[in-house]
Amino acid sequence: MDFRRATPEDFSDILKLQATNFIDNLNTEDLTDGFLSAEFTCQQLEEIANDVALLVASDKGRILGYLCACSCDYYKQFPLLATMIRSFDSILYFGKPLRSYNIFIYGPVCIDKSHRGRGLLRGLYEVLLGEISGKYEVGAAFVSKDNPHSLTAHVNGLGMASPGGFEFRGRHYDILAFSIES
Ligand SMILES: CC(C)(COP(=O)(O)OP(=O)(O)OC[C@H]1O[C@@H](n2cnc3c(N)ncnc32)[C@H](O)[C@@H]1OP(=O)(O)O)[C@@H](O)C(=O)NCCC(=O)NCCS
Repeated sequence: MDFRRATPEDFSDILKLQATNFIDNLNTEDLTDGFLSAEFTCQQLEEIANDVALLVASDKGRILGYLCACSCDYYKQFPLLATMIRSFDSILYFGKPLRSYNIFIYGPVCIDKSHRGRGLLRGLYEVLLGEISGKYEVGAAFVSKDNPHSLTAHVNGLGMASPGGFEFRGRHYDILAFSIES
């Protein structure tokens, strides 16, 4: 398995993986393994790749997972993310508001159903930590409270903290946070 930065040739495969896992396209049974709350366009993927990072897990030319990481400045154009970023004023992480840190936003992340539980999430996360070391102090993610599989993978699996949450259009989200070693 190769974990690397995405190139423009990967974008169509990322869009397919994204569509398959978008909340509105999943049946009730598949929702239990997690879902994506938002869909990006091809142009937005390119902008994310040029902002902080767009990473892929690829095997023999097949894209099996991807992970987006972006600045608050870029993501604040999306209403759900703007609400999350506003909550950074009041959510404390190690005694200080999240807003006071040099912070970026982790996610969305998605692993192909056929390859979940096989270390791809951890592989993408570790490459991301290497890519951003020295550039940011803290990463923050949001996960829907209706997505316990993702919450467990990130909190119990990757060791992220859960310092607070927010509400957007009647749905509740947890905010996860993790520190970056420089
Ligand atoms: C959410 C998602 C990215 C998680 O990926 P995954 O491959 O299913 O995650 P895993 O089950 O392998 O869990 C990740 C790590 O957490 C560990 N973990 C999971 N549950 C755990 C628990 N209860 N206690 C301790 N560790 C746990 C796993 O062992 C794994 O660690 P490892 O790589 O060292 O084995 C994936 O299911 C997915 O893409 N779902 C659809 C889209 C989605 O929900 N995206 C997230 C939106 S917020």
